[in-house]
Amino acid sequence: MKPVNVGLCGLGTVGRGTLSVMQRNMQDINRRSGRPVRITHVGARRDNPSCDLTGIKVSRDIFEVARDPEVDVVVELIGGYEPAKQLVLEAIAHGKHVVTANKALIAVHGNELFRAAEEKGVKIAYEASVAGGIPIIKALREGLVANDIQWLAGIINGTGNFILTEMKEKGRSFDDVLAEAQALGYAEADPTFDVEGIDAAHKLTILASIAFGIPLQFDRVYTEGISKITQADVQFAEELGYRIKHLGLARKSRQGVELRVHPTLIPEKRLIANVNGVLNAVLVEGDAVGPTMYYGRGAGSEPTASAVIADIVDVARSIGADNGVPHLGFSDFSTNIDVLDM
Ligand code: HSE
Repeated sequence: MKPVNVGLCGLGTVGRGTLSVMQRNMQDINRRSGRPVRITHVGARRDNPSCDLTGIKVSRDIFEVARDPEVDVVVELIGGYEPAKQLVLEAIAHGKHVVTANKALIAVHGNELFRAAEEKGVKIAYEASVAGGIPIIKALREGLVANDIQWLAGIINGTGNFILTEMKEKGRSFDDVLAEAQALGYAEADPTFDVEGIDAAHKLTILASIAFGIPLQFDRVYTEGISKITQADVQFAEELGYRIKHLGLARKSRQGVELRVHPTLIPEKRLIANVNGVLNAVLVEGDAVGPTMYYGRGAGSEPTASAVIADIVDVARSIGADNGVPHLGFSDFSTNIDVLDM
């Protein structure tokens, strides 16, 4: 069967993980895809000595990947708004499917990108954009498809949870733990996105659009981060039998959808209060299934690569098969549900 050629843009933390997991588990990935899937072209400003790029075309200009006639799927792992948005639009214009881990891009420009993809008849898949390795988008779009989702809530920023955990468990300072999260590759290029709740708001925007079938509305999320949490807050919470966790919450009511991210006091016996370190957890309540919980590594090289490759395989399976992939088209959105001003 004809192989699926993948063009990978970005050799940062997630790009390196994707290349390495693809190379390590190639045989199983190919068997599960039903056809060979191979990275044929990498776009990166500089080589990374830890990457084996044998047999792979390398371009310094990422747009060459989007224009490469041999490439079927462009994987955008450069992050940020630009040039990521132009790259994705260029890939779509050239008839390529797109896989991205970029939550900022999807949350802020997703409506426009989905519309462009729909017009061109290509897919955009973005499982890795929320909660790293946890397949939460697939859970919402596939496993819970029968449900009327009532609400969802979760720890969806690994860096923030790592900071709060280390402050509580080891009494470390906020700045010290943030520096470690950056060194471990958990934090965003601009870590204020993590500590001011912006990253969690991006992810909540995406989850809510899928759970409630509404257009992406990042501007309407009430957003508060953890940057004002002190060691004293953490200790007082503990004395009172609570843990401070930074949550994203989306709830549907008759009036509309409530979207907010902020620090929350959770009784220490609750399951979610005991989700520590870089781990994420998302609770989803559906009318048929009741409460469900999804748990795993929310950031980091290979956990995020796991979700990126799941999307590559989904797209590979769908090429020529016209079956469902984790792509949310603009026409899937209902516009008669309003987001509430908080
Ligand atoms: N900076 C993000 C986090 C990376 O810490 O959760 C994964 O999206």
